[in-house]
Amino acid sequence: MADAALVELAKRRGFFFGSNGAYGGTAGFYTFGPQGAALKRNVESAWRDRFTLQEGNREIESPTVMPEPVFEASGHLETFDDMLVECGECGDSHRADHLVEDATDVEDAEALPAEEVETLIRDHEIACPACGSPLAGRDVEDFNLMFATDIGPGDGQRGYLRPETAQGIFVEFPRLKEYARGNLPFGITQIGPAYRNEIAPRGGLLRLREFTQAELEQFIDPETDDPPLERVTDVEVRLYPAAEQTKPDGDYRHTTVGEAVADGTIGSPWVGYYLGVAMEWYERIGVDLNRFRFRQHLAGERAHYAADCWDAESEVDGDWIEIAGFAYRGDYDLSKHDAYGDDTFTVFKRYDEPKTVERATVDPDMSVLGPAFGGDAAAVADALETLAERDPEAFAAETVAVEVDGETHEVDADVAGFAVEEVTETGEHITPHVVEPSFGVGRTVQTLLAHAYETDEVDDEERTYLSLAPEVAPRDAAVFPLVTSDERLTALADRVAADLRAAGLAVSYDDSGSIGRRYRRQDEVGTPFCVTVDRDGIETDGAETVTVRERDSAAQVRLPVDELAGELTRLLSGESFEALTDRYETVETDVETN
Ligand code: ATP
Ligand code: GLY
Repeated sequence: MADAALVELAKRRGFFFGSNGAYGGTAGFYTFGPQGAALKRNVESAWRDRFTLQEGNREIESPTVMPEPVFEASGHLETFDDMLVECGECGDSHRADHLVEDATDVEDAEALPAEEVETLIRDHEIACPACGSPLAGRDVEDFNLMFATDIGPGDGQRGYLRPETAQGIFVEFPRLKEYARGNLPFGITQIGPAYRNEIAPRGGLLRLREFTQAELEQFIDPETDDPPLERVTDVEVRLYPAAEQTKPDGDYRHTTVGEAVADGTIGSPWVGYYLGVAMEWYERIGVDLNRFRFRQHLAGERAHYAADCWDAESEVDGDWIEIAGFAYRGDYDLSKHDAYGDDTFTVFKRYDEPKTVERATVDPDMSVLGPAFGGDAAAVADALETLAERDPEAFAAETVAVEVDGETHEVDADVAGFAVEEVTETGEHITPHVVEPSFGVGRTVQTLLAHAYETDEVDDEERTYLSLAPEVAPRDAAVFPLVTSDERLTALADRVAADLRAAGLAVSYDDSGSIGRRYRRQDEVGTPFCVTVDRDGIETDGAETVTVRERDSAAQVRLPVDELAGELTRLLSGESFEALTDRYETVETDVETN
């Protein structure tokens, strides 16, 4: 289905639309309407269930504005850039790497130096997509994607809107490790907004300036912690490894998670584990697995923090889009915050048995260092201690040289009080490694809509419907009185809707227009079940009945009102509709008699 048709349906039916329309619109910002907000929330709940609750992880919620030093440490200030080229004629801004990828065979222009991208723009006579003027000769510049802000009035502190939810987890690691009682492995999740001042927002929810991420930071001891790989070892995956992408006849590898980890195609068992979990989750929420793959990043494509990275990609409108990234971040983030921050980003790893080790120490005679070095004496003592740890051999000579603020000081070895002691150590401080599955919720929502979009014919009429998985569909059921002219029908329909809501279902009520139109409206927003109250259902000697229609097959059964909530709950938790057609009378069509 074309992007444009999806975006039109999304707007007409209340899934999502460009924000601030009354003020001319703001590119890169979208509002989720009533259907879209419900769909998005259901995707988030399904993610929370799988990646937080089922994994035994814990979720936090941290601020979206963070002070500048966080991003100095994380590397985002320095390197979180995209390649910008501005049109000299109309002033429009474009992603230079994307223009080059669209116009040439280059698959990963982001990895090229700016001058090479400028050359490619010139050699391939690439023009501005907005006005058609040549872009040859225009500078390609690095553009930092973070939104800056000021924290507090006046000369308050410089801050940034977080470009990934992950940093809110990393900076709180010193406390989070305490909640885990210092034991690895443990996982922390967060679902929330992230902000990137994208050069060229596009494609509905695909490239926004404010979007929702669902991220899991799995903290592990790389020496000893293994994932429970056996749980997903047989999960089948379609992989597109980096080596295949660079071959002229490169192809997919259809394999299992277990095999791909065993033969080294997926380097990290933890990344393999989460690819398997994600694969099962995407199937559960309704991604079409024939339009889905895992693609490994090429070396030059990886983010500054990633040692290896695989993307989950879905096919939407003929393009492959990244919907999640699975990065092995190593100790990059925690080491950086340990070096830049004022807290400890390590954990104490206890040995099975205490170890006796030799440790070089100093005990400088300050009554000598004081008069000799004045204000520098304490710094000289510290430097001696550091030297003892790094190079104990240096104390074998008669004098020892240490450097303080660029100046070399000589100290007699016996003044340093050098000694080698035997100490018993119960453990060591290590910096955990991080494995990160990072999901874009909006891109997932757009994928689900694109993959669920179907057309067929019902009652000789063409219809459009969204075959959304019941778990994520915006509404569980819709309730209609067949006609509104009979108060008995509207009263029962009201009661049925109220009872279903009380049973915890998300229910729409619709009494406007023909019954056929009401079914079509629900089909278009993906409501899996429609309940209709008709005269046959009340003019009976026995219990009151209603019809229940299943969206994709348009098949209907008649069942007692008393059974309705229970049967719908079973259907919503996965029971097939055929099971109902075996147990209840099937109904051909609704007859409308106003
Ligand atoms: P791209 O290369 O498409 O810009 P990315 O590699 O920068 O994406 P990551 O930094 O890995 O993306 O972000 C993790 C996830 O966040 C992505 O898989 C995607 O689903 C989502 N995401 C990133 N940028 C955007 C955006 N501008 N709009 C919507 N979702 C986004
Ligand atoms: N946390 C991964 C990313 O957003 O880049």
